[in-house]
Amino acid sequence: MKIATIGSGNMGGTLGRRWAAVGHRVTFGSREPNSEKMRLLLQASGPQAEAATIREAVERSDVILLAVMAEDIERALSEAGDLKGKLLINCTICFDGTSADAKVRSLVRDARVVRAFHNFTWEVLANPCYEGGRAAAFLSGDDPEAVAVVASLATDIGLDAIDVGDPESMAKVEAAVGMLWGVLGSRFGREYSLGVLRR
Ligand SMILES: NC(=O)c1ccc[n+]([C@@H]2O[C@H](COP(=O)([O-])OP(=O)(O)OC[C@H]3O[C@@H](n4cnc5c(N)ncnc54)[C@H](OP(=O)(O)O)[C@@H]3O)[C@@H](O)[C@H]2O)c1
Repeated sequence: MKIATIGSGNMGGTLGRRWAAVGHRVTFGSREPNSEKMRLLLQASGPQAEAATIREAVERSDVILLAVMAEDIERALSEAGDLKGKLLINCTICFDGTSADAKVRSLVRDARVVRAFHNFTWEVLANPCYEGGRAAAFLSGDDPEAVAVVASLATDIGLDAIDVGDPESMAKVEAAVGMLWGVLGSRFGREYSLGVLRR
């Protein structure tokens, strides 16, 4: 697939690098596509990756990963330009108690928004395979085809994709994951993640 990232930090950089490694065409959308930091990221990502401005990256891709800090969401989305019909993956988190999912869905009404890759740290994304199984990636969205595409992108990089249903169900999952993080994160650190056993 042709994937753009908006933001090339911990999340955008790690997901883009891993998707490029398994053959997806990745364009890192950055405010500074010619920076030294980007040169190193491209070197680590291999021949399937390139860098561009946010707008150019979005124009040449079908799937867009929004990976900026909460306070930059509006500005980054306005830099992205026309998102009509694009599949927009939202991994952002608002730490002020508001919902990043609701915020992005209200700002981008003509894209197909899927909530994903937000229930663990970027360190888990870098290596989601554990002795006991794979890290669970909880997904949700209103468009089942778009959710299926993101599930497949999650599986491609070793995650266990779990479609939790509609945004209301995801809000409950996020509240539970947040509470568990408060207890288990301090015990096991940033590489702790959740797995879901099922038959
Ligand atoms: N870190 C984690 O483990 C983690 C886990 C789950 C969810 N999240 C969420 O994922 C999002 C990204 O986190 P992160 O850790 O990747 O953050 P980060 O390392 O700070 O990267 C954010 C990137 O956003 C870009 N950016 C900054 N200001 C911008 C602006 N005004 N307009 C457009 N782009 C801008 C920058 O890329 P350029 O310099 O290339 O433009 C920057 O590298 C956050 O909402 C965070 O809460 C993070």
